[in-house]
Amino acid sequence: MDGTERILVTGGSGQLARALDVAAPSHGFAVRCVGRPILDFERPASIDTVFAETAPALVVNAAAYTAVDMAEDEPEAAMRANRDGPARLAQLCAAAGIPLIHVSTDYVFDGRKDAPYVETDATAPQGVYGVTKLAGERAVLELCPRSIVLRTSWVYSPIGRNFVRTMLAIAQRSDRLRVVADQRGCPTQSADLAEVILAIAGRIMRDGWQDRYAGIYHAAGSEWTTWHGLAVATFAEAARYGAQAPTVEPIATADWPTKAVRPPDSRLDCSKLQAVFELRLPVWRTSLARAIDDIFAPAAQPMLHSAG
Ligand SMILES: NC(=O)c1ccc[n+]([C@@H]2O[C@H](COP(=O)([O-])OP(=O)(O)OC[C@H]3O[C@@H](n4cnc5c(N)ncnc54)[C@H](OP(=O)(O)O)[C@@H]3O)[C@@H](O)[C@H]2O)c1
Repeated sequence: MDGTERILVTGGSGQLARALDVAAPSHGFAVRCVGRPILDFERPASIDTVFAETAPALVVNAAAYTAVDMAEDEPEAAMRANRDGPARLAQLCAAAGIPLIHVSTDYVFDGRKDAPYVETDATAPQGVYGVTKLAGERAVLELCPRSIVLRTSWVYSPIGRNFVRTMLAIAQRSDRLRVVADQRGCPTQSADLAEVILAIAGRIMRDGWQDRYAGIYHAAGSEWTTWHGLAVATFAEAARYGAQAPTVEPIATADWPTKAVRPPDSRLDCSKLQAVFELRLPVWRTSLARAIDDIFAPAAQPMLHSAG
Protein backbone atom coordinates (compact mmCIF):
# COMPACT_ATOMS: atom_id res chain seq x y z
CA MET A 1 0.00 0.00 0.00
CA ASP A 2 1.53 3.34 -0.97
CA GLY A 3 -0.73 5.54 1.15
CA THR A 4 -2.60 6.95 -1.81
CA GLU A 5 -5.46 4.44 -1.87
CA ARG A 6 -8.64 6.33 -1.55
CA ILE A 7 -11.65 5.05 0.33
CA LEU A 8 -15.05 6.54 -0.31
CA VAL A 9 -17.15 6.64 2.86
CA THR A 10 -20.84 7.51 2.64
CA GLY A 11 -22.97 8.87 5.47
CA GLY A 12 -20.52 11.72 6.12
CA SER A 13 -21.93 13.18 9.32
CA GLY A 14 -23.00 9.87 10.90
CA GLN A 15 -21.36 8.23 13.89
CA LEU A 16 -19.52 5.55 11.93
CA ALA A 17 -18.47 7.75 9.02
CA ARG A 18 -16.94 10.28 11.39
CA ALA A 19 -15.05 7.57 13.26
CA LEU A 20 -13.72 6.26 9.94
CA ASP A 21 -12.66 9.74 8.91
CA VAL A 22 -10.70 10.19 12.16
CA ALA A 23 -9.03 6.76 12.13
CA ALA A 24 -8.23 6.36 8.41
CA PRO A 25 -4.96 8.35 8.30
CA SER A 26 -3.34 6.09 10.89
CA HIS A 27 -4.11 3.15 8.57
CA GLY A 28 -2.46 4.92 5.63
CA PHE A 29 -5.68 5.68 3.78
CA ALA A 30 -6.93 8.84 2.20
CA VAL A 31 -10.63 8.95 2.89
CA ARG A 32 -13.29 10.92 1.17
CA CYS A 33 -16.16 11.05 3.60
CA VAL A 34 -19.28 12.33 1.89
CA GLY A 35 -22.67 13.08 3.36
CA ARG A 36 -25.85 14.81 2.38
CA PRO A 37 -26.57 16.88 0.39
CA ILE A 38 -23.55 16.01 -1.80
CA LEU A 39 -24.28 12.28 -1.72
CA ASP A 40 -27.98 11.66 -1.17
CA PHE A 41 -29.63 8.32 -1.85
CA GLU A 42 -32.79 10.29 -2.67
CA ARG A 43 -30.88 11.56 -5.71
CA PRO A 44 -29.32 8.49 -7.36
CA ALA A 45 -27.39 10.67 -9.81
CA SER A 46 -25.44 12.06 -6.83
CA ILE A 47 -24.11 8.57 -6.13
CA ASP A 48 -22.74 8.25 -9.67
CA THR A 49 -21.23 11.73 -9.58
CA VAL A 50 -19.43 11.24 -6.26
CA PHE A 51 -18.20 7.81 -7.31
CA ALA A 52 -16.80 9.13 -10.61
CA GLU A 53 -15.15 12.13 -8.93
CA THR A 54 -13.55 10.02 -6.23
CA ALA A 55 -12.38 7.00 -8.24
CA PRO A 56 -12.12 4.99 -5.02
CA ALA A 57 -10.12 1.82 -4.43
CA LEU A 58 -12.79 0.67 -1.95
CA VAL A 59 -16.16 1.96 -0.73
CA VAL A 60 -17.60 1.84 2.79
CA ASN A 61 -21.33 2.44 2.94
CA ALA A 62 -22.02 3.94 6.37
CA ALA A 63 -25.10 5.86 5.23
CA ALA A 64 -28.47 4.56 6.26
CA TYR A 65 -31.95 5.56 7.31
CA THR A 66 -31.39 4.73 10.99
CA ALA A 67 -34.48 6.25 12.65
CA VAL A 68 -36.05 2.94 13.65
CA ASP A 69 -39.43 4.28 14.78
CA MET A 70 -39.77 6.93 12.09
CA ALA A 71 -39.15 4.28 9.43
CA GLU A 72 -42.53 2.78 10.29
CA ASP A 73 -44.13 5.94 8.87
CA GLU A 74 -41.70 6.38 5.98
CA PRO A 75 -41.12 2.92 4.53
CA GLU A 76 -40.47 4.18 1.00
CA ALA A 77 -37.80 6.63 2.13
CA ALA A 78 -36.22 3.94 4.32
CA MET A 79 -36.18 1.55 1.35
CA ARG A 80 -34.56 4.14 -0.91
CA ALA A 81 -31.81 4.78 1.65
CA ASN A 82 -31.31 1.25 2.91
CA ARG A 83 -31.77 -0.79 -0.27
CA ASP A 84 -31.81 1.32 -3.42
CA GLY A 85 -28.86 3.58 -2.63
CA PRO A 86 -26.63 0.69 -1.51
CA ALA A 87 -27.71 -1.26 -4.60
CA ARG A 88 -26.52 1.56 -6.86
CA LEU A 89 -23.23 1.73 -4.95
CA ALA A 90 -22.86 -2.02 -5.39
CA GLN A 91 -23.41 -1.74 -9.15
CA LEU A 92 -20.76 0.96 -9.41
CA CYS A 93 -18.29 -1.04 -7.31
CA ALA A 94 -18.93 -4.16 -9.40
CA ALA A 95 -18.36 -2.25 -12.63
CA ALA A 96 -15.11 -0.82 -11.24
CA GLY A 97 -14.03 -4.21 -9.83
CA ILE A 98 -13.54 -2.79 -6.31
CA PRO A 99 -14.74 -4.03 -2.91
CA LEU A 100 -17.74 -2.62 -1.07
CA ILE A 101 -17.98 -2.85 2.71
CA HIS A 102 -21.63 -2.37 3.59
CA VAL A 103 -22.88 -1.97 7.16
CA SER A 104 -26.07 -3.67 8.33
CA THR A 105 -27.85 -4.41 11.56
CA ASP A 106 -28.84 -6.92 14.22
CA TYR A 107 -32.45 -5.82 13.59
CA VAL A 108 -32.63 -8.25 10.65
CA PHE A 109 -33.36 -10.86 13.34
CA ASP A 110 -36.53 -11.34 15.37
CA GLY A 111 -34.55 -11.82 18.57
CA ARG A 112 -36.18 -15.05 19.62
CA LYS A 113 -33.25 -17.44 19.23
CA ASP A 114 -32.28 -17.11 22.91
CA ALA A 115 -28.59 -17.35 21.96
CA PRO A 116 -26.17 -15.17 19.99
CA TYR A 117 -26.94 -15.13 16.28
CA VAL A 118 -24.52 -16.49 13.69
CA GLU A 119 -24.47 -15.27 10.10
CA THR A 120 -26.34 -18.27 8.73
CA ASP A 121 -29.29 -17.96 11.12
CA ALA A 122 -32.67 -17.24 9.58
CA THR A 123 -33.58 -13.57 9.36
CA ALA A 124 -37.02 -12.26 10.32
CA PRO A 125 -37.01 -8.49 10.77
CA GLN A 126 -39.75 -7.14 13.00
CA GLY A 127 -39.99 -3.62 11.62
CA VAL A 128 -39.54 -1.49 8.51
CA TYR A 129 -35.96 -0.56 9.40
CA GLY A 130 -34.92 -4.21 9.62
CA VAL A 131 -36.86 -5.13 6.48
CA THR A 132 -35.18 -2.39 4.46
CA LYS A 133 -31.71 -3.17 5.84
CA LEU A 134 -32.15 -6.85 4.99
CA ALA A 135 -33.22 -5.89 1.47
CA GLY A 136 -30.06 -3.77 1.26
CA GLU A 137 -27.85 -6.68 2.33
CA ARG A 138 -29.36 -8.90 -0.33
CA ALA A 139 -29.05 -6.28 -3.06
CA VAL A 140 -25.40 -5.58 -2.25
CA LEU A 141 -24.45 -9.25 -2.13
CA GLU A 142 -26.24 -9.96 -5.38
CA LEU A 143 -24.92 -6.99 -7.34
CA CYS A 144 -21.31 -6.79 -6.19
CA PRO A 145 -19.19 -9.96 -6.03
CA ARG A 146 -16.62 -8.17 -3.88
CA SER A 147 -18.98 -7.16 -1.11
CA ILE A 148 -18.60 -7.61 2.61
CA VAL A 149 -21.67 -7.00 4.79
CA LEU A 150 -20.91 -6.21 8.44
CA ARG A 151 -23.89 -6.50 10.75
CA THR A 152 -23.38 -4.44 13.86
CA SER A 153 -25.56 -3.46 16.82
CA TRP A 154 -26.39 -0.82 19.43
CA VAL A 155 -23.94 1.71 17.97
CA TYR A 156 -22.89 4.66 20.10
CA SER A 157 -20.16 7.25 19.94
CA PRO A 158 -18.83 10.21 21.93
CA ILE A 159 -20.55 12.34 19.28
CA GLY A 160 -23.87 12.15 17.47
CA ARG A 161 -27.28 10.94 18.53
CA ASN A 162 -27.14 7.70 20.50
CA PHE A 163 -28.33 5.96 23.65
CA VAL A 164 -25.26 6.73 25.78
CA ARG A 165 -25.38 10.45 25.09
CA THR A 166 -29.14 10.49 25.56
CA MET A 167 -28.73 8.89 29.00
CA LEU A 168 -26.11 11.47 30.01
CA ALA A 169 -28.35 14.30 28.83
CA ILE A 170 -31.35 12.98 30.78
CA ALA A 171 -29.22 12.59 33.91
CA GLN A 172 -28.51 16.32 33.85
CA ARG A 173 -32.16 17.14 34.41
CA SER A 174 -33.50 14.12 36.27
CA ASP A 175 -32.37 11.98 39.20
CA ARG A 176 -34.54 9.02 38.27
CA LEU A 177 -35.26 7.27 34.99
CA ARG A 178 -36.78 4.05 33.68
CA VAL A 179 -34.90 1.90 31.17
CA VAL A 180 -35.87 -1.31 29.41
CA ALA A 181 -34.17 -4.30 31.03
CA ASP A 182 -35.50 -7.20 28.95
CA GLN A 183 -33.77 -6.53 25.63
CA ARG A 184 -30.32 -8.01 25.20
CA GLY A 185 -27.65 -6.91 22.75
CA CYS A 186 -24.01 -6.02 22.14
CA PRO A 187 -23.17 -2.31 22.45
CA THR A 188 -20.67 -1.22 19.81
CA GLN A 189 -18.59 1.92 19.88
CA SER A 190 -18.30 3.44 16.40
CA ALA A 191 -14.51 3.83 16.76
CA ASP A 192 -14.13 0.07 17.32
CA LEU A 193 -16.19 -0.75 14.24
CA ALA A 194 -14.18 1.80 12.25
CA GLU A 195 -10.96 0.03 13.31
CA VAL A 196 -12.34 -3.30 12.13
CA ILE A 197 -13.43 -1.85 8.79
CA LEU A 198 -10.06 -0.18 8.22
CA ALA A 199 -8.20 -3.35 9.19
CA ILE A 200 -10.23 -5.33 6.65
CA ALA A 201 -9.65 -2.65 4.03
CA GLY A 202 -5.93 -2.66 4.81
CA ARG A 203 -5.72 -6.39 4.40
CA ILE A 204 -7.51 -6.28 1.06
CA MET A 205 -5.30 -3.45 -0.20
CA ARG A 206 -2.13 -5.16 1.00
CA ASP A 207 -2.77 -8.77 0.04
CA GLY A 208 -5.45 -8.41 -2.61
CA TRP A 209 -9.09 -9.47 -2.67
CA GLN A 210 -9.92 -13.11 -1.99
CA ASP A 211 -13.28 -14.50 -3.00
CA ARG A 212 -13.66 -16.18 0.38
CA TYR A 213 -13.97 -12.70 1.95
CA ALA A 214 -17.33 -12.04 0.28
CA GLY A 215 -20.40 -12.42 2.46
CA ILE A 216 -21.92 -11.50 5.80
CA TYR A 217 -20.05 -11.01 9.09
CA HIS A 218 -21.24 -10.07 12.54
CA ALA A 219 -19.16 -7.24 14.00
CA ALA A 220 -20.28 -5.98 17.40
CA GLY A 221 -18.77 -5.24 20.78
CA SER A 222 -17.73 -8.35 22.71
CA GLU A 223 -20.01 -9.65 25.48
CA TRP A 224 -23.52 -8.33 25.96
CA THR A 225 -25.85 -6.42 28.24
CA THR A 226 -29.34 -4.89 28.34
CA TRP A 227 -30.33 -1.26 27.73
CA HIS A 228 -30.69 -1.00 31.50
CA GLY A 229 -27.22 -2.48 31.99
CA LEU A 230 -25.79 -0.05 29.47
CA ALA A 231 -27.45 2.90 31.23
CA VAL A 232 -26.17 1.85 34.66
CA ALA A 233 -22.65 1.32 33.29
CA THR A 234 -22.76 4.70 31.55
CA PHE A 235 -23.58 6.44 34.81
CA ALA A 236 -20.94 4.46 36.70
CA GLU A 237 -18.29 5.57 34.20
CA ALA A 238 -19.54 9.16 34.22
CA ALA A 239 -19.33 9.17 38.03
CA ARG A 240 -15.53 8.96 37.62
CA TYR A 241 -15.82 12.54 36.39
CA GLY A 242 -18.08 13.62 39.23
CA ALA A 243 -21.34 13.27 37.32
CA GLN A 244 -24.34 12.51 39.51
CA ALA A 245 -25.65 8.98 38.87
CA PRO A 246 -29.46 8.85 38.74
CA THR A 247 -31.51 5.91 39.92
CA VAL A 248 -32.22 3.64 36.96
CA GLU A 249 -35.41 1.67 37.33
CA PRO A 250 -35.51 -1.53 35.25
CA ILE A 251 -38.71 -1.85 33.24
CA ALA A 252 -40.14 -4.28 30.69
CA THR A 253 -40.44 -3.55 26.97
CA ALA A 254 -44.21 -3.62 27.44
CA ASP A 255 -43.88 -0.64 29.78
CA TRP A 256 -42.07 1.42 27.15
CA PRO A 257 -44.17 1.17 23.98
CA THR A 258 -42.45 2.17 20.75
CA LYS A 259 -43.77 2.40 17.22
CA ALA A 260 -41.34 -0.23 15.91
CA VAL A 261 -40.96 -3.64 17.52
CA ARG A 262 -37.40 -4.34 18.67
CA PRO A 263 -35.83 -7.81 18.86
CA PRO A 264 -35.75 -8.90 22.50
CA ASP A 265 -32.37 -10.61 22.13
CA SER A 266 -30.20 -9.60 19.19
CA ARG A 267 -26.82 -10.65 20.52
CA LEU A 268 -24.38 -11.31 17.70
CA ASP A 269 -21.83 -14.12 17.58
CA CYS A 270 -18.77 -12.56 15.93
CA SER A 271 -16.58 -15.65 15.65
CA LYS A 272 -16.62 -15.65 11.83
CA LEU A 273 -14.98 -12.20 11.83
CA GLN A 274 -12.25 -13.61 14.02
CA ALA A 275 -11.86 -16.78 11.98
CA VAL A 276 -11.55 -15.05 8.61
CA PHE A 277 -9.93 -11.71 9.48
CA GLU A 278 -8.52 -12.37 12.98
CA LEU A 279 -10.44 -9.36 14.24
CA ARG A 280 -12.43 -8.94 17.40
CA LEU A 281 -14.05 -5.86 18.89
CA PRO A 282 -13.22 -4.99 22.52
CA VAL A 283 -15.49 -5.93 25.41
CA TRP A 284 -18.30 -3.34 25.39
CA ARG A 285 -17.61 -2.20 28.97
CA THR A 286 -13.99 -1.30 28.13
CA SER A 287 -15.06 0.66 25.08
CA LEU A 288 -17.77 2.44 27.01
CA ALA A 289 -15.18 3.65 29.53
CA ARG A 290 -13.10 5.05 26.66
CA ALA A 291 -16.11 6.81 25.16
CA ILE A 292 -16.95 8.39 28.51
CA ASP A 293 -13.33 9.53 28.82
CA ASP A 294 -13.65 11.16 25.44
CA ILE A 295 -16.88 12.90 26.38
CA PHE A 296 -15.69 14.20 29.75
CA ALA A 297 -11.95 14.61 29.14
CA PRO A 298 -11.58 14.99 25.39
CA ALA A 299 -8.04 16.38 25.62
CA ALA A 300 -6.90 12.93 26.73
CA GLN A 301 -7.90 11.53 23.32
CA PRO A 302 -7.28 14.35 20.84
CA MET A 303 -7.98 12.31 17.70
CA LEU A 304 -11.46 11.30 18.71
CA HIS A 305 -12.10 14.76 20.08
CA SER A 306 -11.33 16.23 16.71
CA ALA A 307 -14.34 14.36 15.35
CA GLY A 308 -16.65 16.17 17.72
N1 LIG B 1 -26.98 3.41 15.24
C1 LIG B 1 -27.18 2.14 15.60
O1 LIG B 1 -27.54 1.85 16.75
C2 LIG B 1 -26.98 1.03 14.61
C3 LIG B 1 -27.25 -0.29 15.00
C4 LIG B 1 -27.04 -1.32 14.09
C5 LIG B 1 -26.59 -1.03 12.82
N2 LIG B 1 -26.34 0.26 12.46
C6 LIG B 1 -25.87 0.52 11.11
O2 LIG B 1 -24.59 1.10 11.19
C7 LIG B 1 -24.38 1.99 10.09
C8 LIG B 1 -23.88 3.32 10.59
O3 LIG B 1 -24.87 3.86 11.45
P1 LIG B 1 -24.62 5.17 12.32
O4 LIG B 1 -24.89 4.82 13.72
O5 LIG B 1 -23.33 5.81 11.95
O6 LIG B 1 -25.84 6.04 11.77
P2 LIG B 1 -26.13 7.59 11.86
O7 LIG B 1 -25.25 8.24 12.87
O8 LIG B 1 -27.59 7.73 11.95
O9 LIG B 1 -25.64 8.08 10.44
C9 LIG B 1 -26.33 7.71 9.27
C10 LIG B 1 -25.89 8.63 8.16
O10 LIG B 1 -26.62 8.27 6.99
C11 LIG B 1 -27.03 9.47 6.36
N3 LIG B 1 -28.24 9.26 5.58
C12 LIG B 1 -29.51 9.02 6.01
N4 LIG B 1 -30.34 8.94 4.97
C13 LIG B 1 -29.59 9.12 3.86
C14 LIG B 1 -29.87 9.19 2.47
N5 LIG B 1 -31.13 9.04 2.01
N6 LIG B 1 -28.87 9.40 1.61
C15 LIG B 1 -27.60 9.56 2.05
N7 LIG B 1 -27.26 9.54 3.35
C16 LIG B 1 -28.25 9.33 4.25
C17 LIG B 1 -27.28 10.44 7.48
O11 LIG B 1 -27.20 11.74 6.96
P3 LIG B 1 -27.64 13.05 7.80
O12 LIG B 1 -26.54 13.27 8.80
O13 LIG B 1 -27.73 14.10 6.75
O14 LIG B 1 -28.96 12.70 8.43
C18 LIG B 1 -26.16 10.10 8.44
O15 LIG B 1 -25.01 10.84 8.14
C19 LIG B 1 -25.73 2.03 9.33
O16 LIG B 1 -25.68 1.13 8.27
C20 LIG B 1 -26.72 1.53 10.35
O17 LIG B 1 -27.85 0.93 9.74
C21 LIG B 1 -26.51 1.29 13.32
